[in-house]
Amino acid sequence: MSKVYDIGVLPGDGIGDEVVAQALKVLDAVQQVYGFQTRREAMPYGAEHFLKTGETMPDAAFDRIRQMHAVLFGAIGDPRIEVGKLEFAIIAGMRHKLDLYVNLRPVKLYHESLCPLKDKKPGDIDIVFCRENTEDAYSGVYGYTKKGSEHEIALQEMIYTRRGTERIIRHAFELAQKRGPKPGKDKPQVTLIDKANAVRAQDLWTRTFAEVAREYPGIATDHAYIDAACMWMIKNPDWFDVCVTTNLFGDIITDLGAMLIGGMGIAASGNIHPGKVSMFEGIHGSAPKYKGTDKASPLATILAMGLMLDHLGEAAASKELEATVAELIQTRQIRTLKAGDHRCSELGTMVKDHLLRRARTGPVGAAR
Ligand code: IPM
Ligand code: MN
Repeated sequence: MSKVYDIGVLPGDGIGDEVVAQALKVLDAVQQVYGFQTRREAMPYGAEHFLKTGETMPDAAFDRIRQMHAVLFGAIGDPRIEVGKLEFAIIAGMRHKLDLYVNLRPVKLYHESLCPLKDKKPGDIDIVFCRENTEDAYSGVYGYTKKGSEHEIALQEMIYTRRGTERIIRHAFELAQKRGPKPGKDKPQVTLIDKANAVRAQDLWTRTFAEVAREYPGIATDHAYIDAACMWMIKNPDWFDVCVTTNLFGDIITDLGAMLIGGMGIAASGNIHPGKVSMFEGIHGSAPKYKGTDKASPLATILAMGLMLDHLGEAAASKELEATVAELIQTRQIRTLKAGDHRCSELGTMVKDHLLRRARTGPVGAAR
């Protein structure tokens, strides 16, 4: 009996439909090669559903998802709807209600032509961000007084708990241990990125990081304030290996990271609670202007689906999918990730066909 995984499919808004369709097309091929199955359940939530029914994402949907293994997610955001409403209910909704405390965001360069920095080659940029995904400025504690008046006060709390801080830091160390040292290094490294010099509440991160680090003598540690980390990402991205950071800083620095590896069209993420149902998405938004044009890159969602395979326990399939995409880029079959240069459906077909070809004949041996 082959394994069967229950997958919620939530395309959402904008380009979500198109990119998720391509990821599912690739998933068909992966299943064929690796001999497992998926039961896929479409979930309609997003702008159209909200405009039709007034419902964002009901409790019943979260209950349903709790019975699944994973959710493959497209994007949320629609100019017809109040800013943040659906993002908060659906994206943050899943992150909070399913307690998906790890936002895993790999930043890996597959070909120098995709990097806007001079002389950066694959291997120079191979970073994994562990973004805390349930606390900080995203806790939902905010408000306004004297709204609309010249004396208005707006506030939003940055909340950190010892438990929330410790579990993401621990996850980063475990991940570093699993990855092992980068070429030329004798130890894997975890960098803490924070702003504890100004946001004194983040002293909790400083102390927790130091305590957890003591349990991992085989792992080198480093620290950078977020402003400096942004600078070093541009100047010396090769210094970073695994990075752990707060929710908001992680949001920002991973967009920066995405631009170093080819842009939002290739940056994947997993919203993970180890051992429990988790959600996988590109880090991009819904790009309404590309909706229905077959121009958006589906590679971010395809690679997010690859992270999903790893989460499901299909590690070999996950590695092979990443190697397939990498090889298409390294052999210049995928030349560019600019929207429209390759069609969305074309990229999905290329990945699918190449995965099946590799399964028959092995890697073509890209010139690296
Ligand atoms: C992301 C997005 C979300 C975030 C938005 C849509 C709420 O930018 O997943 O990075 O800020 O986390
Ligand atoms: Mn973001």
